[in-house]
Amino acid sequence: MQKIIKVKNYDQLCAVAGKIIGAQMQEKKDSVLGLATGSTMLGVYKELISLYESGEIDFSYVKTFNLDEYLGLPGENPQSYSYYMESNFFNHINIKKENTYIPDGSASDGDEECRHYDDVIESLGRADIQLLGLGMDGHIGFNEPGECFIKDCHRVKLDESTIKANSRFFDDIKDVPKEALTIGVGAIMDAKTALLCVTGKGKSSILKSILEDDITPKIPGTILQLHNNLVVIADEEALSELLA
Ligand code: F6R
Repeated sequence: MQKIIKVKNYDQLCAVAGKIIGAQMQEKKDSVLGLATGSTMLGVYKELISLYESGEIDFSYVKTFNLDEYLGLPGENPQSYSYYMESNFFNHINIKKENTYIPDGSASDGDEECRHYDDVIESLGRADIQLLGLGMDGHIGFNEPGECFIKDCHRVKLDESTIKANSRFFDDIKDVPKEALTIGVGAIMDAKTALLCVTGKGKSSILKSILEDDITPKIPGTILQLHNNLVVIADEEALSELLA
């Protein structure tokens, strides 16, 4: 099942995403949330923080796991996704740190860390909601374009286009890690709801492509067409090619 929620702009996208996640948490206080990073999520986290501050939601029993992490960046590095999550979200809500999981980017054995992370996800159970952003090359998590879909957590060489896109968060493009650890499409497809948030004109063509093109690992997001419950929240700019 696929539902597209069309919103006017980014602010509305964040408000709607916050409302959907908030409702899930009100219905099940020990919800499992799959989380993402990136610029799209910043406003979504702000929205959730404000719902928490107004007493509408409570994170005491919530458990979270993140999609991915750069390989080679320890959690204290301000560019790591671990640091992003703490500074933009976890430090502002009442979640228990021991209930939050992110792949360990400083692991000496990345493959071993992936096996461990799959065990973590299995022990948490299916995500009630998996938040997703969309990469310019169609990646979800850091499942980059390739020859096949990869079900489990894995080590991935980042695409040149991803490195370029993410260099905006670094002083120098040379500082962007070339590898990452990412959950596989298995855990994403397993989520009870996949909540894909897409904003801006720059994503309009890839959004159309993941929803309308044939399903192919060359455009990883196309696999979401097979998700049992895909909810896309997208603003007018991001939907401009899909609805044209
Ligand atoms: C982040 C992640 C990525 C981003 C995607 C979009 O944890 O998994 O798939 O969601 O790269 O990033 P933004 O929102 O920065 O355009």
